[in-house]
Amino acid sequence: MIDNRGRVVALIPAAGMGTRLGEAVPKAFVEIDGVTLLELSADAARRSGVVDQIVVAAPTELIERAAALVPDAIVVPGGAERSDSVRAGLAAAPDAAFVLVHDAARALTPPELFASVVTALRDGARAVVPGLRVVDTLKRVDATGAVLGTADRDELRAVQTPQGFAADVLRQAHSGQGDATDDAGLVEAEGVAVTVVPGDAMAFKVTTPFDLRLARLLVADRQSS
Ligand code: CTP
Ligand code: MG
Repeated sequence: MIDNRGRVVALIPAAGMGTRLGEAVPKAFVEIDGVTLLELSADAARRSGVVDQIVVAAPTELIERAAALVPDAIVVPGGAERSDSVRAGLAAAPDAAFVLVHDAARALTPPELFASVVTALRDGARAVVPGLRVVDTLKRVDATGAVLGTADRDELRAVQTPQGFAADVLRQAHSGQGDATDDAGLVEAEGVAVTVVPGDAMAFKVTTPFDLRLARLLVADRQSS
């Protein structure tokens, strides 16, 4: 059954410090051509046309700044781990029917990816993640660097955000204190089926200085064309 009703909340965890990026400000507040990663991510959610409310989890000292950058959002203080930030955001969205958890760091994600995740949810999926086939060969190695085996690439996907959930499923998965880089991981542990929809290369996560360089080049390219 297609569920055309039900509020969709985009929850943007933006409370991380960005240690691997190594900029002077927390990662979500790093700018590309004068626009923060947080604003870019919120813009994509908004422009998708499928999001009713944005909730941002921000570092405690940057709550007011986040609220100024995303004036239509509910802004809450994040926590020590990413999952703590997701739990804080969930608590601020009691009326959500569906929740899309979307890393602020995936700033160039196309609005269409939000829409395709919501379509899958409204078609009845309880948990949806965008995933891309991996291009590199992946090997399992031990601590000494010795190869233990080669993974079968055909059955692997690199997963991205927005990850979409029926709200009750995500709340149940986060009812403990579990931490995961990936909300779907917690949902899987609950025995809930997770569906993969095609991801998008532009939804890459800005993690390292290389990624930020890439994001800046892509934005410049977009502006010049
Ligand atoms: N995040 C969060 N709260 C935390 C940790 C992370 O809201 N306690 C958010 C980040 O702001 C980011 C997303 O979760 O948008 C993905 O996390 P990651 O890429 O690891 O960002 P950081 O934790 O900031 O980076 P690092 O791990 O390099 O410090
Ligand atoms: Mg982190």
